[in-house]
Amino acid sequence: PHDAAPHTPLPKAELHLHIEGTLEPELAFALAERNGIDLPYATPEELRSAYAFSDLQSFLDLYYRLTAVLQTEQDFADLAEAYLERAAAQGVRHAEIFFDPQAHTARGVDIGTVIRGLTSALDTSRERHGVSTGLILSFLRDLSAEDALQTLADAAPYLDRISAVGLDSAEVGHPPAKFTEVYAEAKRLGLRLVAHAGEEGPPSYITEALDLLGVERIDHGIRCLEDEALVARLVAEQIPLTVCPFSNVRLRCVDRLEEHPLPAMLAAGLLVTVNSDDPSYFGGYVEDNYRGLRTALGLTDDQLRLLARNSFKASFLDEARRTELL
Ligand code: HPA
Ligand code: ZN
Repeated sequence: PHDAAPHTPLPKAELHLHIEGTLEPELAFALAERNGIDLPYATPEELRSAYAFSDLQSFLDLYYRLTAVLQTEQDFADLAEAYLERAAAQGVRHAEIFFDPQAHTARGVDIGTVIRGLTSALDTSRERHGVSTGLILSFLRDLSAEDALQTLADAAPYLDRISAVGLDSAEVGHPPAKFTEVYAEAKRLGLRLVAHAGEEGPPSYITEALDLLGVERIDHGIRCLEDEALVARLVAEQIPLTVCPFSNVRLRCVDRLEEHPLPAMLAAGLLVTVNSDDPSYFGGYVEDNYRGLRTALGLTDDQLRLLARNSFKASFLDEARRTELL
């Protein structure tokens, strides 16, 4: 049947996706209206035209500003439901979804509102969309370690809904070492551990995330290529890297998709996966990233199938579901 449906997206897992980064301009306007909030843009089109970034921080400024429209449980449920529907259409069968509680609690929205809203959509996802899900509580690394510890404490009543903790936001100047105690506590609570490292920050942040935080998976990680010994280690230990090609181009970590190091990473034997990061802001969802790699870099069907296989291997799925999906 390989030629019967050439445009059917490959079944895959998405492991690096910020739910706040799936907020499409149209939904932002609808939620702003529902909540009586004025956006500093006249139309969704005008907002979309502001999506031109010079680096990670310039993106984060807009990303955090737009979270203001997310206020009620229903808002978070609508956001997650819109993503899951799109994800299913892009071949996603399993999604491990980041959320940034501190981006909401800092505005006075209770963490329970966020988690209950998101999980109400996640709970019906397998049956409605065929997409199993996990939720990753991500700490903002430009806030203090104390703030992260408090956030973990605030999440205590909801830990059965959370599979892992992560670390995101402005990377440079906020090394993983800052969060050693927080990650030790998360591990004690039985959570899995991941962290963004080596996106804008140096390769040494990847090593710190592995050795000081004990993470099992690195988000982004593309700057590992600057350190041969680190690449050898990541290959030997088969540490998964959740790479986000469109994100890397839009945030100017990579000049053009045609120059993305993903083929070199595959050639080195790294356990690479492809993900969308913040698809509303970066020009496409996960299958769009796969297709972009095929078009811009000439990735073969075999390579794309390997990436999809890697995504299930690198997931936190239980063995039964992993076997079913592989
Ligand atoms: N990097 C760091 N922080 C983030 C990102 C990212 O790509 N997306 C949302 N928060
Ligand atoms: Zn990210």
